[in-house]
Amino acid sequence: MFSIALVGHVDHGKSTLIGRLLYDTNSLPEGKIDEIKKTCEALGKNFEFAYVVDALEEERKNQMTIETSQTFFKTQKREYALIDAPGHKEFIKNMVTGASQADASILIVDVKEGVKEQTRRHAYLLKFLDALPVIVCINKMDLVNYSEKEYLKAKKEIEDYLKLIGIKPIAIIPISAYAGDNVVKKSKNMPWYDGLTLTEVLDSLDIKSKREETLFFVQEKYKDIYLGNLLSGSIKRHQKLFVLPENKEVEVGRIVYGENEVEEVKAPKAIGITCNKELRRGNLLVKDPNQFHISRKINAVVFVLSDKIKKNESYTLRLLTQETIFRVRKIREKIDIDTLERKEAKELKELDAGIIEIETEKPLAFTKSVKEVSRFVILKKGKILAGGKII
Ligand code: GTP
Ligand code: MG
Repeated sequence: MFSIALVGHVDHGKSTLIGRLLYDTNSLPEGKIDEIKKTCEALGKNFEFAYVVDALEEERKNQMTIETSQTFFKTQKREYALIDAPGHKEFIKNMVTGASQADASILIVDVKEGVKEQTRRHAYLLKFLDALPVIVCINKMDLVNYSEKEYLKAKKEIEDYLKLIGIKPIAIIPISAYAGDNVVKKSKNMPWYDGLTLTEVLDSLDIKSKREETLFFVQEKYKDIYLGNLLSGSIKRHQKLFVLPENKEVEVGRIVYGENEVEEVKAPKAIGITCNKELRRGNLLVKDPNQFHISRKINAVVFVLSDKIKKNESYTLRLLTQETIFRVRKIREKIDIDTLERKEAKELKELDAGIIEIETEKPLAFTKSVKEVSRFVILKKGKILAGGKII
């Protein structure tokens, strides 16, 4: 499964694009379109693809199972999960706290409106979260008579902004989500565009080679078994591993997966293990400890979701299951998302991004080369205030 974050300014066409993708790839449940067409008629409204997405969303809400909004579609090549922005804040929260992990992103820009505030914020987040590569869709081309000139104007504007953040999009596609141009099918309305359609670009992406290194983190102890998550690699019975941040060698005993004891398991899985030494919540078990840092002094980029992060204040940091109190030693800079200017600051407010230097009470084990082990959340009284990434 390939996960894609879909971002862009309000009304630039995210929901419509999802509806169009589902429709043109035949990924919609049978009868769904007819059902919605009928509802639209009864209400005297024109049919909108966005309603399809809203209807699916509603169904999911009623089932009360999913907290992030995901929609699935498949091409001939593979299956995709689209992570949509149900609301701006929820989306940012899900992305920043790691509830959603994207392998790539689609940034949608209305050709007439160009780059807007939320376009900039989302683009910045994509970089912050390594949700790369980025595919840009210049949408609503039907509203400008499929004009190449209008496309080039919007293209330049978004390219210039992305360049400032250090993102080079792998494609900038002129589309009409509403009319279906260049989404799945090549458009006859834009003969001047000789690039790929959106699904062709998606299908051309390489699935990143998954990490092979063993990485298991401990969640809790149940009787003599340590329950946790195997994030990558595999674990064998009687394998020797290193436990971090203590950095000592241990030997795995039995492995439990589901109801069974097994000889070996491969990631990603929730499993239980026994061990010849005492472990605790937060411990990481790895093959090669040299690939990890163990430190109490950390520099990080943070994105504030609510309240404030202030210099000299103490907060709680959670990275996987590692948890520690820390103090903000310095706010090195605040990043203005609109201009990307960096300024000095004493505090970071809601939706601010900045770079901070912190000192933790307990040593933390992390590695910058693995997303899951470099990203953390900041809490105060159990509430998430910010998301961060160790730099
Ligand atoms: P939010 O969820 O509110 O952020 O908006 P959104 O990005 O999901 O936009 P949505 O898909 O709801 O589209 C907003 C409006 O633009 C709707 O009325 C769509 O019908 C219209 N729209 C979207 N794509 C196109 C397009 O390609 N052409 C035209 N003409 N209208 C479009
Ligand atoms: Mg929408």
